Amino acid sequence: MQELSLGGRRVLVTGGAGFIGSNFVHRLLALHPDVHVVVLDALTYAGRRENLDGVPASSLTFVHGDIRDPKAVATAMAGCEFVLNFAAESHVDRSIETPGEFIQTDVYGVFVLCEEARRVGVKRFVQVSTDEVYGEVLEGSSTEDWPLNPRSPYAASKAGGDRLAYAYWCTYGLPVVVTRCSNNYGPRQYPEKLVPLFVTNAIDDEPLPVYGSGLNRRDWLHVDDHCDALLTLLTFAGVEGETFNIGAQHELDVLTITATLLRLLDKPGTLIRYVEDRPGHDRRYAVDSSKLTRVTGWTPRISFEEGIVQTVQWFRANESWWRPIKQGDFRVYYERMYGQRRVLAGGQG
Ligand code: NAD
Ligand code: DAU
Repeated sequence: MQELSLGGRRVLVTGGAGFIGSNFVHRLLALHPDVHVVVLDALTYAGRRENLDGVPASSLTFVHGDIRDPKAVATAMAGCEFVLNFAAESHVDRSIETPGEFIQTDVYGVFVLCEEARRVGVKRFVQVSTDEVYGEVLEGSSTEDWPLNPRSPYAASKAGGDRLAYAYWCTYGLPVVVTRCSNNYGPRQYPEKLVPLFVTNAIDDEPLPVYGSGLNRRDWLHVDDHCDALLTLLTFAGVEGETFNIGAQHELDVLTITATLLRLLDKPGTLIRYVEDRPGHDRRYAVDSSKLTRVTGWTPRISFEEGIVQTVQWFRANESWWRPIKQGDFRVYYERMYGQRRVLAGGQG
């Protein structure tokens, strides 16, 4: 079977002004300069138009709109043969505060996109899901046929979108591919997430709030490796209706990441502050991505050691990106999320 061709085609990237979406757009156009990208993004607190700075104007149409709005979706998807849905409410802590927004965007928004994609007759629809849909995995690593057991409103909403997209393949033949990736890190990640929050706090000698014991484990993948996997799956032949895990097989606990960041920034361990845990905090995620490697040949290229050095350097060199974010609304969020949190004596689980 022949790979789908991207040459001269229009590709819709929803959520393209966010962390992974913007990295994807830059990478797609670097590798396929003849593609025309349409970004549909609501520019929520996490989306930034400047994340797309440097993209040639002639290669990009930016639609400021919401994936829940059928009109905005129809405008953005017109003439597109390929769709990747990155748009989502993406932060677990916020989903604990305001679950309704997650259900609206991460489930209903996927429905609106699938309906339009079906009407337009797109060639491929990639639903960017997450390894969190499996719930916590205390031993071994989840393969794609594992039961879904999401445990936060974020994870449950993503599981809804994940299976809804799949249902459009089964029911209507929409050529859907679902991906479930592990934790990403890299440039332009919004500083509410562990790596950018701790790097930017440490630069400013502010405390690093470690939840509970700090022994929670995640698999860490550089965003460029995630984007390469998605690019592969956007055109790979014969994978419609399939689900693929994407991971690095590089598991680390929060304390190890924290120690690495402090070492790279030459900051003291006294910045660590153990704080009250996230409710329902999943202790471990681990995905088995051997299916993706077996089927497409994809493997991660960037080691954590190399990627984290690059990432820390990026945040050091781009204070003009994150300092304005950490003012204003972010301050209010930070105070709400962390201000009242009980400080623990030291690593209580
Ligand atoms: P992000 O929060 O940085 O970006 C989300 C983007 O979606 C923002 O630009 C935001 O403005 C936009 N958006 C939100 N609601 C919208 C709506 N209703 N309509 C249109 N646009 C909207 O998120 P991210 O970390 O880049 O994650 C991107 C996708 O990848 C998400 O679907 C997430 O679930 C998934 N994912 C993330 C990770 C990770 O480690 N960050 C890992 C696996 C999967
Ligand atoms: O696994 C993929 C998922 O990874 C994505 O689907 C999500 O969009 C993404 O946000 C991420 O979810 P996590 O909850 O794993 O990421 P976060 O950066 O919020 O937390 C990583 C770990 O660090 C987790 O064990 C909680 C811990 N943590 C996080 C923050 C923000 C802390 O100890 N302190 C903190 O202040």
